[in-house]
This record gives sequence, structure tokens and C-alpha cells, in this order.
Amino acid sequence: MKLNISEINKIIACPGCRAPMPLIESQDAVCSLCQSSYPWLAHTWNLIPSSWKESSDLWPAWEQLQANGVVSYRKDPQNNLNVGKRQVSIDFSNFCRFDGLVLDVGCGPQAWPSHFASGAEGTRFVGVDPLVGGSEADYTQFCALGEYLPFRDGVFDHVVFATSLDHFVDPLPVLLEARRVCGENGEIGLWVGEKSANTPKPANSPEWYSQLKKPEGAEDVFHFKRLSAADSDRLIDRAGLRIVAREVHEVDQYRSNYFYRLQVTSAT
Ligand SMILES: C[S@@+](CC[C@H](N)C(=O)[O-])C[C@H]1O[C@@H](n2cnc3c(N)ncnc32)[C@H](O)[C@@H]1O
Ligand SMILES: [Zn+2]
Repeated sequence: MKLNISEINKIIACPGCRAPMPLIESQDAVCSLCQSSYPWLAHTWNLIPSSWKESSDLWPAWEQLQANGVVSYRKDPQNNLNVGKRQVSIDFSNFCRFDGLVLDVGCGPQAWPSHFASGAEGTRFVGVDPLVGGSEADYTQFCALGEYLPFRDGVFDHVVFATSLDHFVDPLPVLLEARRVCGENGEIGLWVGEKSANTPKPANSPEWYSQLKKPEGAEDVFHFKRLSAADSDRLIDRAGLRIVAREVHEVDQYRSNYFYRLQVTSAT
């Protein structure tokens, strides 16, 4: 079930200055503190601050990776998004033990991600992704960036990253944003797909895949840098998070899915 506008207004904040910013359905929003404006799209608001590109020189390359991602989500959604009934998504959903209000960062453009399969009674889902807003979804979505979450501090019971953490320009500031919006006893659920460097290339690639361009500095046509389990462990530590549960689901000799449940450490 979607959040109604008064529920939305209890959690939303200007992604630029973080002041509370009441939204009105179907209308552009303006922050009364910093005067930034956020247009209404066909189905939600575009809450990406206008200064988003100032934080890094890597955004143009990210735009190319995103454009490549969009092609893969259209041409082959089953292999590039969590859509439909997938056992690994159900496993991740069960692993996360969702309850209360759940934020999915990099939720994808699909109407209902497969990893929303389970949760305690009354669990509600919210998603952010720069690709949403043009089509109807079955839960509350905002067009936004993980680097600039449009929410007040501590409003979510769970924040989740399902195969999205290796799509950011730099995952650390995004994890710190997740930490900020996660409640005191909340948890961050993380799913990282590890693929070893010596994974054999498929004998045949589809035509659409061969057309994708790898931007300079990127590891492949979808990622700046794929995360290994060791990279993930280091990032978690640097973000001041502690692992409360971890599962490894081996796909084959080259690929494994790592699931983490994380909590904020009191030291940071
Ligand atoms: C592999 S897809 C995973 C989508 C979804 N979580 C799922 O499991 O199906 C990676 C997603 O990360 C999103 N993404 C990339 N950069 C982002 C950013 N800076 N902020 C939020 N989402 C981002 C992409 O738009 C894409 O939808
Ligand atoms: Zn503002």
C-alpha cells in the first residue's frame, strides 16, 4: 500500500538543505528555506537537487553507465533487475526481516521489486531511484539520488540496497546517507553480487549488449567498480556500521551473492 500525502510529509525533507518541505500531490515543490524547486513528474516528484553534478567529476561517466543500465532493464529485465518470482530475491527478503517503514535505495524502475516478497504485517515500502517517476508503481517511489536522500533523519526502520551499491559514483557517502535516515534501532540490508575477475565471458552476447559503451574509468559497461566481499566489509567499517548477520549464497564457482544486515555502531 502506498503512503498517503500526510504520511509522506512526515518523512520528507528538502534533499538540498534538509529542511522539512511539505509536498502537494501533482504540484511542483519549492523549499521555503533554500528556495530550490522540485518538479512533479507524471507519478511522483523529481527530488534531485540542481547542484547534484558538483560533487564529483565522475557524473558524466555515471550518466553513460545509467544509460547502459536502462537498455539492459528494457531488453532483459529478468537478468538485470529483481522482477518476478526469484528465489534469491525471496531469500534476501526473508534475510532482511522487514518491518515498519522500509526504504529501498536504487529501487529500480519496476513496479514491485521481487525482494519486497516478505515482511511483518503492516510493512510499508518506499523507493528512490533516478529512473522512477515516469510510470505507475505499486508502492511509494521518489525520483532521487542515494547521495541526496530527500528524508528527515531517522525516519526508516530499514534501509535496503539490493544489488545497487556498486552502481554509485562512490558508495561511502550513500551508505552514510542511509545511516542518517535509518532509525536508532533500524537496520541496513545490503545485497552485493560478487563476480570473480576470471569469470568466462559468455560465448555469445546479444546485439544490444555489444552496442553499449564503457566510459573511461569504469570497470565494465554497468559499474565503475564491482564490489568484492572484502571491499564491502571495508566499506561497512568505514561507514561506522557493524555486521549483525551475513549470508553467502553461491551461484556458481565464479559468482556469489552476499547478504548483510547492518546496524549503526555507537562509536561514530
Ligand atoms: C542493478 S539495478 C538494481 C535495481 C533494484 N534494486 C533491483 O534489485 O531490481 C541498480 C539501480 O541503481 C540505481 N542507481 C544508480 N545510481 C544511483 C544513485 N546515485 N542513486 C539512486 N539510485 C541509483 C539505478 O538507477 C538502478 O535502478
Ligand atoms: Zn531546501
